[in-house]
Amino acid sequence: MLKNISLKKYNTFGINVKADWLAQIDSLEQVLTIIDDLPDMPKLILGEGSNVLFLNDYKGIILHNNIKGIKVIDENDTEIIIDVNGGENWHDFVMWAVNNNYGGIENLALIPGKVGAAPIQNIGAYGAEVKNVIEKVHTVNMLTCEPKSFSKDACNFGYRHSVFKLPENKHKYFIHKVRFKLYKKKYRVNTAYGIIQKIFERKKISNPKLKDVAEAVIEIRRSKLPDPKITGNAGSFFKNPYIKIDKLKELQAVYPKIPYYETDLKDRLKIPAGWLIDQAGWKAKRLGDAGVHPKQALVLVNYGMATGRDIKKLAEMIITDIQDKYDIRLQPEVNYIESIE
Ligand code: FAD
Ligand code: EPU
Repeated sequence: MLKNISLKKYNTFGINVKADWLAQIDSLEQVLTIIDDLPDMPKLILGEGSNVLFLNDYKGIILHNNIKGIKVIDENDTEIIIDVNGGENWHDFVMWAVNNNYGGIENLALIPGKVGAAPIQNIGAYGAEVKNVIEKVHTVNMLTCEPKSFSKDACNFGYRHSVFKLPENKHKYFIHKVRFKLYKKKYRVNTAYGIIQKIFERKKISNPKLKDVAEAVIEIRRSKLPDPKITGNAGSFFKNPYIKIDKLKELQAVYPKIPYYETDLKDRLKIPAGWLIDQAGWKAKRLGDAGVHPKQALVLVNYGMATGRDIKKLAEMIITDIQDKYDIRLQPEVNYIESIE
């Protein structure tokens, strides 16, 4: 166990806070022992820290999830069931699937983080969401050590949402394994997303394979999003808001070109928060070392020495301004981590 350790390299925002303790977790048994031995110590599970914002030093123990392993459970001609331990890197799992010709997650290439965190906000990108391939989520209760498996339905997945995001469930379950169903023969790649198609046109690919889709997604992501190794960030800072059709009409009267997307709710549409923030004039703005990314206004960045509170302050200024200008309240996608002093 590491004592009094800087978390700078354990979160992609590069926030320099300290934790009292940090344990590298290589097995589920280790987690159960820590819960038994240290029942009263606050505990935080951390994957790659790519969706957290630390607001202060963490008074407790960080469980850094490194439980590895990929196991085929069952397969037939068309489908394969796979258990993946939560400490596997998400992108490595995507590329493992692509290289084995298992379809279903290729559009989610290059999303940072670990497999164990993927169900929490139902990661999504370029026309796909992880809920489409999740069968089950295996957890243990962080207070009682009781095992509990959540079926796909019990996970209650939505846009950047699952049962694990409910306030009463926050930090309650340790996700140690996720069961996926991926596809073999007859699987049709999902290339509906406009930019993916443009890449195929440019490369003259008429019959794209899994690898082509993954490569296109990787290319798009590299061109749009800042690399956390160079500039600290946690991807989209806010969720894209759902609005009613009447509200869209109101906005269209002033901004005829506002982009919007259909959702699975028939009376709601989704509009890009990045567009709203950009229109409101925030792109490339800085508050000390906290900033709005110059190429993607939905991404807040740390230019080096920003604290979590600096980033949060900038986020709150943006929320207030968007509320004033458009009467829309943005919700952070990133998880604030505030330890009790
Ligand atoms: P962490 O940040 O370590 O943890 C996130 C939360 O989950 C924390 O509250 C933590 O306590 C909890 N947690 C983590 N692991 C476990 C576990 N095993 N059991 C229980 N709780 C746990 N997200 C998307 O959906 N789509 C994108 O396209 C996307 N692009 C991104 C691009 C960049 C450049 C970055 C930096 C982030 C992006 N994200 C995206 C966000 C991020 O990649 C995902 O949310 C990812 O799933 C987080 O994984 P993690 O292991 O880093 O989780
Ligand atoms: N836009 C602007 N200005 C900006 C940024 C965006 O006008 O500064 C406009 C774009 O022109 C486009 C629209 O907003 O018309 C949407 O932008 P983009 O395609 O970049 O996607 P996004 O809505 O900003 C979402 C996800 C990403 C995911 C991409 C691709 C959320 C909160 N974000 O971003 O997920 O990778 O779509 O599917 O849903 C994440 O969650 O961390 C994340 C990066």
